[in-house]
Amino acid sequence: MNKKLIITGGSKGIGRAAIDAFLKEGYQCINISRSTIAEPGVLQINADLSKMSWLQDCAQSLIDAVAGAEQLCLIHNAGMMEKDNIQNCEPANLAAVLQVNVIASQQLNQLILPYMRKGSSILYIGSTLSEKAVSNSCSYVISKHAVVGLMRATCQDLAGTGIHTACICPGFTDTEMLRTHLGDDPSIIDSIAKLNGYERLIDPDEIVSVLQFCADNPVINGTLMHANLGQLET
Ligand SMILES: NC(=O)c1ccc[n+]([C@@H]2O[C@H](COP(=O)([O-])OP(=O)(O)OC[C@H]3O[C@@H](n4cnc5c(N)ncnc54)[C@H](OP(=O)(O)O)[C@@H]3O)[C@@H](O)[C@H]2O)c1
Repeated sequence: MNKKLIITGGSKGIGRAAIDAFLKEGYQCINISRSTIAEPGVLQINADLSKMSWLQDCAQSLIDAVAGAEQLCLIHNAGMMEKDNIQNCEPANLAAVLQVNVIASQQLNQLILPYMRKGSSILYIGSTLSEKAVSNSCSYVISKHAVVGLMRATCQDLAGTGIHTACICPGFTDTEMLRTHLGDDPSIIDSIAKLNGYERLIDPDEIVSVLQFCADNPVINGTLMHANLGQLET
C-alpha cells in the first residue's frame, strides 16, 4: 500500500523520532520545518509556520507529494513555547504562538483533506497543558487547549469519511524544546524528571509508539490521549 506521512516539525525531537519510525513502517515521509533533514525517503519542505503566508510557496509541492497516497497520516507536531503570563502576554506574541500551534495546522488540514482517503488520520500533538495550566506558560496553555478543540471539531466534521483523529498529549519529554525551556540546567531537568511518576523523562520514541497506534486504529477517534508516565500533581 502507498502510505505517506506528512508531519510538521520533523527536524527535531518527537517529530524526528516519528519520521524514523514511520520510515521503518514503509511510509514515504514529508517533513515541514525551518531546518532541513536529509534522509532517504523524506521530502523536505522548508517553511516557517509562524508566517500566515507560509503555504504560498509550498502548497503545490505538498499537493504533488501526497497525490496517489492510499493512506495518509497527517501529524501536527511543530510547536512553539514562550515563557509568558497573563500580565505580560502581548497580543502579538499570543498571535504568533497560535499561528504555529493551531492556525498552521488548520491551514494544512484545508489543503490536504481533499487528498485523504478512507483509513487516513489526522493526529495532533497537545500537551499535559491541553487540559490544565501552570504559571508562566500563558500563550502555550491557551494554544494547547485550542488544539484539543481543533481535534474535536475534526472528529465531528469528518464523521462518515473514514478519516480518524486524536490528540496525543505528551508529558515531560527529552527534547530540545524541554531542555531550552528549562535553561539546560541539569538540576532543574532532574527535578522535572521526578515529576513524572517513573522519575525519568519520556523518550521521544515512547510518544511515537502512541502516534503509530493511533494512526493504525480508527477506534481511536475524537480521543484525547495522555502519554506522560503518570505526571505528579504539585
Ligand atoms: N518536549 C516536551 O516535554 C513536550 C511536552 C508536551 C508537548 N510537547 C509538544 O510536542 C511537540 C514537539 O515538540 P518537541 O519537544 O519535539 O520540540 P523540539 O525538539 O523543539 O521540536 C520542535 C519542532 O517544531 C518545529 N518548529 C518550531 N517552530 C516552527 C516554525 N515556526 N516553523 C516550522 N517548524 C517549526 C521545529 O523545527 P525547526 O526548528 O527546524 O523549524 C522542530 O522540528 C510540540 O507540539 C510540543 O508542544 C512537547
